[in-house]
Amino acid sequence: MKIALIGYGKMGKAIEEIALSKGHQIVLKITSSNIDEFTTAAIKNADVAIEFTNPHSAINNLKKCLQAGVPVICGSTGWLNQWNGIEAFCQQHNGTLLFASNFSIGVNLFFELNIFLAKLMSNHTNYNILMEEIHHTQKKDAPSGTAITLAEQILQHVTTKENWVNHATQNADELEIISKRIDAVTGTHSIKYTSAIDEIEITHKAFNRTGFAAGAILAAEYIKDKKGIITMKEVLGFKNF
Ligand SMILES: NC(=O)c1ccc[n+]([C@@H]2O[C@H](COP(=O)([O-])OP(=O)(O)OC[C@H]3O[C@@H](n4cnc5c(N)ncnc54)[C@H](OP(=O)(O)O)[C@@H]3O)[C@@H](O)[C@H]2O)c1
Repeated sequence: MKIALIGYGKMGKAIEEIALSKGHQIVLKITSSNIDEFTTAAIKNADVAIEFTNPHSAINNLKKCLQAGVPVICGSTGWLNQWNGIEAFCQQHNGTLLFASNFSIGVNLFFELNIFLAKLMSNHTNYNILMEEIHHTQKKDAPSGTAITLAEQILQHVTTKENWVNHATQNADELEIISKRIDAVTGTHSIKYTSAIDEIEITHKAFNRTGFAAGAILAAEYIKDKKGIITMKEVLGFKNF
């Protein structure tokens, strides 16, 4: 498979290493210093594009790939308030797009566990819910895209919470997400359900970026010959419990 890497930073490099070890070819590497090489002709040379840049450039990059007719994987976080526009753009261009706030298989298992626990807790309104996410200090967005996905899953099932906030709160109908930035932490997410008598906590800790990169390659292999908006749930074959 020929891969275009849009964004060749920490994630782009981790993805390249795994892609090469699986016999794939990297045909394009784009950073902010060679954007002029990100042309329609260059992108058309790839079977799939993998975009890990930042919240500000992601949408434009995705549009360029979709316009060129190249299936695109997006891992950039912090831009999802503009999801509807990109979804429509993808459909207009009969394109292929997979966005995941987290590509690691472990986190995608954790997402399923989170939904299951939220469903179980939906009738136990004496528990308050608190989420914490910790990432390295270079992370540009807060809360993390993964934390937003986890929070939205909880909001779908727990009726006592109306919305999430990214600060401490005393409002019982707000789901509190606390973001911490600590050097060298790849990504930790924990959710606590606390009552006056006990606490239930689930945590996922990423030890390195290999899980994200391996998941992104798996997703790229899956979407290469498909059309439309595709999810990691579909790639991993997770059924609804
Ligand atoms: N979904 C997931 O599983 C997952 C996992 C980890 C991270 N992420 C997200 O992925 C994104 C990238 O993370 P990272 O750790 O790899 O960041 P990073 O190390 O800062 O790398 C970002 C890369 O994007 C390039 N870039 C900046 N502006 C660009 C533009 N306009 N067009 C093309 N390339 C551009 C940068 O080039 P320069 O260095 O020249 O500026 C750099 O190569 C972030 O949004 C992060 O939150 C997602």
